[in-house]
Amino acid sequence: MRVRFKLNGEPVEVDVEPNELLINVLRERFGLTGTKYACGIGECGACTVLLDGEPVLSCLTLAADVDGHEVVTVEGLAKSGELTPVQRAFIEEGAVQCGYCIPGFVIMAESLLRENPEPTEAEIRDYIRGNLCRCTGYVNIVKAVKRASKYFKLAPPGS
Ligand code: FES
Ligand code: FES
Repeated sequence: MRVRFKLNGEPVEVDVEPNELLINVLRERFGLTGTKYACGIGECGACTVLLDGEPVLSCLTLAADVDGHEVVTVEGLAKSGELTPVQRAFIEEGAVQCGYCIPGFVIMAESLLRENPEPTEAEIRDYIRGNLCRCTGYVNIVKAVKRASKYFKLAPPGS
Protein backbone atom coordinates (compact mmCIF):
# COMPACT_ATOMS: atom_id res chain seq x y z
CA MET A 1 0.00 0.00 0.00
CA ARG A 2 1.10 3.54 -0.68
CA VAL A 3 1.64 5.79 2.32
CA ARG A 4 2.05 9.56 2.09
CA PHE A 5 3.22 11.60 5.03
CA LYS A 6 5.45 14.47 6.06
CA LEU A 7 8.90 13.36 7.19
CA ASN A 8 11.18 15.91 8.84
CA GLY A 9 9.28 18.69 7.13
CA GLU A 10 9.22 17.19 3.62
CA PRO A 11 6.32 15.40 1.95
CA VAL A 12 7.26 11.78 1.16
CA GLU A 13 5.55 8.69 -0.19
CA VAL A 14 6.51 5.05 -0.01
CA ASP A 15 5.00 1.63 -0.68
CA VAL A 16 4.78 -0.49 2.46
CA GLU A 17 3.47 -3.88 3.50
CA PRO A 18 0.41 -3.69 5.76
CA ASN A 19 2.42 -5.16 8.66
CA GLU A 20 5.59 -3.13 8.09
CA LEU A 21 6.87 -1.21 11.09
CA LEU A 22 7.63 2.49 10.98
CA ILE A 23 11.13 1.99 12.40
CA ASN A 24 12.10 -0.24 9.50
CA VAL A 25 10.69 2.15 6.92
CA LEU A 26 12.56 5.08 8.50
CA ARG A 27 15.86 3.25 8.73
CA GLU A 28 15.82 1.10 5.60
CA ARG A 29 13.81 3.11 3.06
CA PHE A 30 14.76 6.62 4.12
CA GLY A 31 18.22 5.92 5.57
CA LEU A 32 17.30 7.69 8.83
CA THR A 33 19.40 5.50 11.08
CA GLY A 34 19.34 7.96 13.97
CA THR A 35 16.21 6.17 15.14
CA LYS A 36 17.59 3.12 16.91
CA TYR A 37 16.30 -0.42 17.01
CA ALA A 38 17.04 -2.01 20.37
CA CYS A 39 14.43 -4.12 22.18
CA GLY A 40 11.83 -4.10 19.40
CA ILE A 41 9.05 -4.69 21.93
CA GLY A 42 8.28 -1.25 23.32
CA GLU A 43 10.45 -1.53 26.41
CA CYS A 44 13.43 0.80 25.86
CA GLY A 45 12.46 4.00 24.02
CA ALA A 46 15.46 3.96 21.65
CA CYS A 47 13.12 4.05 18.64
CA THR A 48 11.11 7.10 19.77
CA VAL A 49 10.03 9.60 17.11
CA LEU A 50 7.49 12.42 17.08
CA LEU A 51 4.17 11.69 15.39
CA ASP A 52 2.14 14.88 15.00
CA GLY A 53 4.31 16.29 17.77
CA GLU A 54 3.75 13.45 20.24
CA PRO A 55 6.42 10.87 21.10
CA VAL A 56 5.65 7.36 19.85
CA LEU A 57 7.61 4.13 19.71
CA SER A 58 8.34 3.47 16.06
CA CYS A 59 8.95 -0.23 16.78
CA LEU A 60 5.28 -0.53 17.75
CA THR A 61 3.85 1.76 15.07
CA LEU A 62 2.72 0.49 11.69
CA ALA A 63 4.05 2.53 8.80
CA ALA A 64 0.56 2.42 7.29
CA ASP A 65 -0.76 4.31 10.30
CA VAL A 66 1.32 7.42 9.60
CA ASP A 67 -0.47 8.03 6.30
CA GLY A 68 -1.52 11.69 6.25
CA HIS A 69 0.45 12.51 9.40
CA GLU A 70 3.76 14.15 10.28
CA VAL A 71 6.81 12.28 11.56
CA VAL A 72 9.93 13.92 12.98
CA THR A 73 13.05 11.88 13.70
CA VAL A 74 16.18 13.02 15.50
CA GLU A 75 17.60 14.03 12.11
CA GLY A 76 14.75 16.50 11.67
CA LEU A 77 15.35 18.52 14.84
CA ALA A 78 18.36 20.67 13.91
CA LYS A 79 17.55 23.37 11.39
CA SER A 80 20.16 24.59 8.87
CA GLY A 81 22.84 22.66 10.70
CA GLU A 82 22.19 24.45 14.01
CA LEU A 83 21.73 22.11 16.96
CA THR A 84 18.65 22.49 19.12
CA PRO A 85 19.06 23.60 22.75
CA VAL A 86 18.47 19.98 23.80
CA GLN A 87 21.18 18.66 21.49
CA ARG A 88 23.64 21.33 22.65
CA ALA A 89 22.89 20.60 26.28
CA PHE A 90 23.46 16.85 25.82
CA ILE A 91 26.91 17.61 24.42
CA GLU A 92 27.75 20.21 27.04
CA GLU A 93 26.76 17.93 29.92
CA GLY A 94 28.65 14.96 28.49
CA ALA A 95 25.39 13.01 28.52
CA VAL A 96 26.38 10.74 25.63
CA GLN A 97 28.33 7.54 26.26
CA CYS A 98 27.82 4.85 23.62
CA GLY A 99 25.04 7.03 22.25
CA TYR A 100 22.63 4.27 21.32
CA CYS A 101 19.81 5.47 23.54
CA ILE A 102 20.43 9.16 22.96
CA PRO A 103 18.18 9.85 19.95
CA GLY A 104 15.24 8.55 21.96
CA PHE A 105 16.16 10.69 24.96
CA VAL A 106 16.64 13.77 22.78
CA ILE A 107 13.21 13.31 21.21
CA MET A 108 11.64 12.85 24.65
CA ALA A 109 13.43 15.91 26.03
CA GLU A 110 12.21 18.03 23.10
CA SER A 111 8.67 16.81 23.73
CA LEU A 112 8.85 17.43 27.48
CA LEU A 113 10.21 20.97 27.13
CA ARG A 114 7.57 21.91 24.58
CA GLU A 115 4.91 20.75 27.08
CA ASN A 116 6.63 21.96 30.22
CA PRO A 117 9.52 24.40 29.64
CA GLU A 118 10.61 24.41 33.31
CA PRO A 119 10.37 20.83 34.57
CA THR A 120 11.64 19.83 37.99
CA GLU A 121 14.14 17.01 38.27
CA ALA A 122 11.31 14.71 39.39
CA GLU A 123 9.23 15.69 36.35
CA ILE A 124 12.19 15.06 34.02
CA ARG A 125 12.84 11.63 35.55
CA ASP A 126 9.16 10.75 35.34
CA TYR A 127 8.87 11.84 31.69
CA ILE A 128 11.86 9.79 30.56
CA ARG A 129 11.10 6.77 32.71
CA GLY A 130 10.29 4.68 29.62
CA ASN A 131 13.74 5.29 28.10
CA LEU A 132 16.56 2.97 29.07
CA CYS A 133 20.27 3.77 28.96
CA ARG A 134 22.41 0.65 29.21
CA CYS A 135 25.44 2.83 29.92
CA THR A 136 23.40 4.11 32.91
CA GLY A 137 24.13 7.72 32.02
CA TYR A 138 20.96 8.99 33.69
CA VAL A 139 22.55 11.62 35.95
CA ASN A 140 24.08 13.55 33.05
CA ILE A 141 21.02 13.00 30.86
CA VAL A 142 18.83 14.60 33.53
CA LYS A 143 21.36 17.45 33.92
CA ALA A 144 21.26 17.95 30.15
CA VAL A 145 17.48 18.26 30.11
CA LYS A 146 17.70 20.73 33.00
CA ARG A 147 20.34 22.76 31.13
CA ALA A 148 18.22 22.68 27.97
CA SER A 149 15.26 24.02 29.93
CA LYS A 150 17.34 27.11 30.80
CA TYR A 151 18.01 27.64 27.07
CA PHE A 152 14.29 27.21 26.37
CA LYS A 153 13.56 29.86 28.99
CA LEU A 154 16.02 32.28 27.37
CA ALA A 155 14.77 31.63 23.84
CA PRO A 156 11.50 29.66 23.60
CA PRO A 157 11.15 27.62 20.38
CA GLY A 158 9.82 29.77 17.57
CA SER A 159 10.97 33.03 19.22
S1 FES B 1 13.22 -0.50 20.09
FE1 FES B 1 11.26 0.41 20.36
S2 FES B 1 10.97 0.52 22.50
FE2 FES B 1 12.87 -0.54 22.25
S1 FES C 1 24.59 6.17 26.22
FE1 FES C 1 24.85 4.01 25.92
S2 FES C 1 22.86 3.18 26.12
FE2 FES C 1 22.67 5.23 26.73
